[in-house]
Amino acid sequence: MKATIAAIGQFVGQEVLIEGWLWNKRSSGKIQFLQLRDGTGFIQGVVVKSEVSPEVFALCDRLSQESSIRVKGVVRADERAPSGFELTVSDVELVALAEEYPISPKEHGVDFLMDHRHLWIRSPRQRAILKIRAEIIKAMRQFLDGNGFVQVDPPILTPSSCEGTTTLFHTKYFDDDAYLTQSGQLYMEAAAMALGRVYSFGPTFRAEKSKTRRHLIEFWMIEPEMAYCTHEENMALQEAFVQHIVRHVLETCQMELKTIDRDTKPLERVVEGPFPRITYDEAIRLLQEMGHEIQWGDDFGAPHETDLTKRFDRPLFIEKFPTAIKAFYMQPDPERPEVILGADLLAPEGYGEIIGGSQRIHDPELLKKRFEEHHLGEAYDWYMDLRRYGTVPHSGFGIGLERTIAWICGLDHVRETIPFPRLLNRLYP
Ligand code: 4AD
Ligand code: MG
Repeated sequence: MKATIAAIGQFVGQEVLIEGWLWNKRSSGKIQFLQLRDGTGFIQGVVVKSEVSPEVFALCDRLSQESSIRVKGVVRADERAPSGFELTVSDVELVALAEEYPISPKEHGVDFLMDHRHLWIRSPRQRAILKIRAEIIKAMRQFLDGNGFVQVDPPILTPSSCEGTTTLFHTKYFDDDAYLTQSGQLYMEAAAMALGRVYSFGPTFRAEKSKTRRHLIEFWMIEPEMAYCTHEENMALQEAFVQHIVRHVLETCQMELKTIDRDTKPLERVVEGPFPRITYDEAIRLLQEMGHEIQWGDDFGAPHETDLTKRFDRPLFIEKFPTAIKAFYMQPDPERPEVILGADLLAPEGYGEIIGGSQRIHDPELLKKRFEEHHLGEAYDWYMDLRRYGTVPHSGFGIGLERTIAWICGLDHVRETIPFPRLLNRLYP
């Protein structure tokens, strides 16, 4: 009977067929230990010379790393095995003998591994991260679908910018100019006026000249947008959303978290209580106390965010940033127009910003003024229409998928969070 390694526990004492690859092997003369993988997991197959045909034993001797094989064997529970099970092999059929595999189980440099990303993703650690990525996406959709949000897909090719013109990817659009989307937000605002609560989930692009552990050129963003929603309600939703994601990963990915050596205690704290909130003013004071040379009006860099998050053991909201350093669409605080009704959510353990969100300007006059200040042209006429026809207070946010994965998995770089990362100096493979 065909079985997957993930579901092997149902077949203890029975003979199963596993279709997979040889991950690694070692031999002690009369016994060969095959480390098998089938995409769903890893398991050890034990081949005893006296219990299989001479042809099968000779084949096992010949098998190279990553050869594709079909293996028959009886499942045994084994407490010492990482998966909890072992296979007593009765037959092995070769599908294809692999050439000498470039990624041996020994250590390799990052550039070498990145050049071989198409193969590197077969390793236990990379497989675990990609599995957690899929579970995080599932949790995000589950939460939003279960809370009355409708998925709406914004365009990828756009005539205008959402997050500033310095990181736009330009392309020709027949005789016109077009840009790859930096964020679907402006379109989601239109969609929220049509459907109430909406979200988008798709790739976004930023021609970031920064080579840091947090920046990708192509990254995935989930962008919820809500009509009749205030800044406060927006933050409450973000908190429940992030807690749901972390809870789901803790419930469904214990094995993967163990494979990547993630200490789960900091994650457990995240789901235990509300997230701390400080204002930008308080953040500046804290940073000055810590010895940073930063003044009111400056934007935060990665070192500032890292130091702030180390003070708290749950994700940290920083709200009410100076209007001057934030995007044109953010609603100023009516009581203090020099700051906006928006917040960034910083992940703990030094990770920094994972969410940017705000209430949006709904007053047509104020928005018109912002357009003039930011020199935004006719490409935004349709966006202005949203304020002409039944404008309402509304809010939304964008959560960066890869930064969220990096934090939840405890990784030092976002390059391992996405199957094929696009970085400043990498478009291959
Ligand atoms: O803070 P940002 O720029 O906000 C927006 O794009 C809003 N329009 C979202 C909205 O309100 N609908 O980006 C949102 C998030 C960041 O917090 C970060 O997690 C991620 O997107 N992000 C990146 N992730 C990886 N690489 C990059 N270059 C990123 N730039 C932003
Ligand atoms: Mg931001």
